Amino acid sequence: MSIGAAAEIKQKLDLVELIGETVQLRRAGTSWKGLCPFHGEKTPSFVVTPARESWKCFGCGRGGDLFTFVMDRDSVDFPTALRTLAGRAGVELSERTSREDAERKRLREVMEAAISFYHLVLTTHRAGEGALAYLHGRGFTDATIATFQLGYAPASWDALAKALRGRRGATDADLEAAGLAIRRPRGGGVYDRFRDRVIFPIRDASGHPTGLGGRVLGAHDPATQGGKYLNTPSTLLFDKSRTLFLIDRAKAGIRRTGRAVLVEGNTDALMAHQAGFDNVVGTLGTALTAGHVELVTRYAPRIALAYDVDSAGQDAATFGARELTALVGEIERSEHRGRLTDVDVVRLPEGKDPDEVIRETPEVWREATEHPQAIMDFLIDRAASRSDLRTVPGKERFVNALVPTLRSVSDPVRRDAYVQSLARRAGLDERTILAAIRRPEPSGTRTRGTDARAGARIDLEAVLAQPGAVDPRATADLLEPAERALLRLLLVHPELVPGVAARLRPELLVTAPARELWRAMEEAAVLPVPPDRTAFIAGLEPTVAEVARALHARPDPVPGDPHELEQAIGQSILTLERARLAEAVEHARAEVAEAEAAVPPDPAETERLRRELLGLQQRRLDLDRRHQATSLLADRRRATAGTAGDQGGTR
Ligand code: UTP
Ligand code: MN
Repeated sequence: MSIGAAAEIKQKLDLVELIGETVQLRRAGTSWKGLCPFHGEKTPSFVVTPARESWKCFGCGRGGDLFTFVMDRDSVDFPTALRTLAGRAGVELSERTSREDAERKRLREVMEAAISFYHLVLTTHRAGEGALAYLHGRGFTDATIATFQLGYAPASWDALAKALRGRRGATDADLEAAGLAIRRPRGGGVYDRFRDRVIFPIRDASGHPTGLGGRVLGAHDPATQGGKYLNTPSTLLFDKSRTLFLIDRAKAGIRRTGRAVLVEGNTDALMAHQAGFDNVVGTLGTALTAGHVELVTRYAPRIALAYDVDSAGQDAATFGARELTALVGEIERSEHRGRLTDVDVVRLPEGKDPDEVIRETPEVWREATEHPQAIMDFLIDRAASRSDLRTVPGKERFVNALVPTLRSVSDPVRRDAYVQSLARRAGLDERTILAAIRRPEPSGTRTRGTDARAGARIDLEAVLAQPGAVDPRATADLLEPAERALLRLLLVHPELVPGVAARLRPELLVTAPARELWRAMEEAAVLPVPPDRTAFIAGLEPTVAEVARALHARPDPVPGDPHELEQAIGQSILTLERARLAEAVEHARAEVAEAEAAVPPDPAETERLRRELLGLQQRRLDLDRRHQATSLLADRRRATAGTAGDQGGTR
């Protein structure tokens, strides 16, 4: 879809009307108010402001434009929200998108047919008897087998292909595109990918089939061909790093409990659901990815990992403390850190799979998942158990094991708390720990230095040569001015993204295209070798790519001087903060007015709200002063530019 189309959607649709279908809104001055649909509340703090085309909940902090509303409401990604709203606004989709939609639809049908076929074989066919006995033997009931449509792929090279070609008219190309069949290297035709395996259907959050997991029957013999599990490869429908097994069944439970429990194994997740623990999803044996976090935080802010940490380690599927450590850093840098409040570890009896624990001692599972341990405390405990903290080398080892993790914690409050807890455990002074954190990282571990990015200089010609009309006006309709200014600077100077990431709360960006672009920038910035601008833009969702191109092609100059750049970025962030604060002030003012008019009056509550309003106004004043100060500095700098020895005084 083009940005023109996206801008047209925004223009044609009425935000109050759209949101009003989900939330009962009543007028409050120039805005509208209602009960937030994203968290339970009794007094309304969800506000829609038509003039700004934005919405915001002052209770849970969510907010955005019409696209983010649909993304949150339907738990879908940006392209899906665009399509939904395009349909509603009667805006024509681009040919490419509708072609892809048609392809997706066909592949889903093929997948659905395959799932039915495998299920039928398992439950009604002689060939499925062994697999059925195996599943019963592992404690799965017929109800579970039916509900989750478990199946069996017979030991044949073409059972599925034959069945689907005949009954459904699926072509070899369809089967291959869905990942169900593999093209023969010689001669023509395809053969079934899944053979002699128990089949676990995998679906997206909306319940559409995306892929399959296939497990060998019985114990896995490494000598036989293939791994214990075989998954659908990457297809148009299936992306393992963004897939959580059983998310379609778990999303309600995750919302209700405020927490997603993540297990590695398909059987673990299934057993949890069979036993009624419905907030459990499976990560298909991969380490937790940013994609998983993105998916889960649509429903709840807390994640508990029920992984077999430090198990034997031979299995490719183990998730060790090293990954957990990396994860802390990854989440700190990700845009989800605002939405993701807790990452915890579920402590299970040594050497037991969740599957076993749930079957044998469900009360142990319940207790362990309801009271998991904070990931950092877990890592501290673990490191402590591996060093003798009574000795100096033991202390050193302990501190060194945790310093890299601490470095990645950017939130000063949390970092302080961890430093304290570490110091206490090791019987060391906090300053010692802080010094260790500040010590430069050993060389060779720096993979994202500025040098790595030297090759990432912008190639304006290449960007402009990209197909797709650049439409600056549509960008102006879609993004706020400060969003445009900031993102444009960062497109030209991607090396500044990590620095800005530490300061920019993603919720300061209000519009979906701005958020999407920022998220992609953050993701690209942490890659060992960041893509060059052309590749970066080419990899974006088409609408977001167009926004990026349009921003980048704007004719106004971007400061080259580092001080001026810093000023410009600081100003944009302050402007964004000011806008958010202005909303909060407005909201607080309306609350006060309402309290003052209340019958019977509640003086205590009125006073409390007045104070809140005052506090916010004070903060806004401070922010305004800072804003003025930085612009003054910028002006002075400009006036004295060229003067030898000018330091600019920005820091
Ligand atoms: P596990 O080996 O722990 O699987 O791998 P499990 O589900 O507990 O298997 P059971 O209990 O022996 O039946 C965890 C997950 O890793 C993925 C699968 O999704 C599996 O559920 N995996 C494992 C693979 O993708 N390939 C493999 O070869 C092994
Ligand atoms: Mn298992």
